[in-house]
Amino acid sequence: MNEKLQSINLNNVPRHIAIIMDGNGRWAKGKGMQRVFGHKNALTAVREAVDASKQIGTKFVTLYAFSTENWNRPKLEVDALMSLLVSALKKELPEFHKKGIKVNSIGAVDQLPKTAQKTLQKVIEETQNNNVITLTFALSYGSREEIVNAIKNISKKVVNNEIDVKKIDEKIINNHLYTFNLPDVDLMIRTSGEQRISNFLLWQMAYAELYFTDVLWPDFRQEDLFDAVINYQNRERRFGKTSEQIGTDV
Ligand code: FPP
Repeated sequence: MNEKLQSINLNNVPRHIAIIMDGNGRWAKGKGMQRVFGHKNALTAVREAVDASKQIGTKFVTLYAFSTENWNRPKLEVDALMSLLVSALKKELPEFHKKGIKVNSIGAVDQLPKTAQKTLQKVIEETQNNNVITLTFALSYGSREEIVNAIKNISKKVVNNEIDVKKIDEKIINNHLYTFNLPDVDLMIRTSGEQRISNFLLWQMAYAELYFTDVLWPDFRQEDLFDAVINYQNRERRFGKTSEQIGTDV
């Protein structure tokens, strides 16, 4: 068995891992290639991250595949990312079934090109009964936009007397986010040495452990995910409590 995998306590793995897959452009540039070459080579890393998560028993993996801000990139790159998404989803469908992967998406997916929307919808529907791991793609996703949307939808319900203002609580807000069917993030990994959240799952990461690695996303392998989880397990998650209270009911 893999040495790193062996040192992971399988009774204390993050239930939900979110990943900011950063560094594709720099990876390609380092090889004297176009940025799109980096995105193409990102797919191996996606497979490795999901396989590693599955091996340790993590039930939810969420990948920041395309942010609302990414629409501002050159059209050529945006188009390439969209067609990569479509071809990857089509190609991976048999693997999703073989591995029990349920595909999900968050974000303003209605902004995606029609072919991408159709393929995504098909893969989500066809994998909905898989139950080993839920793989969520954040597409045209921005956390602030998600929160604005939630506020609009809750406000409409208040106006229609479906929700009483006094009853608005965290649960109601949660239920109006794209992530209504996902648990909070336990571990957030960002590659390429950048140490930012970049408008990703702001509400859902309230108590997440943040892990930053210099590895560029196309180079990310199972071992790198194990490293992140080992690091996570060496931290004390206090959720606002004192060290002494952890592990007791105080
Ligand atoms: C960040 O690297 C990566 C992205 C903006 C896109 C992520 C896309 C993929 C991993 C490939 C397609 C995904 C799927 C799920 C099919 P960057 O381009 O910002 O890199 P840089 O910071 O080095 O420029």
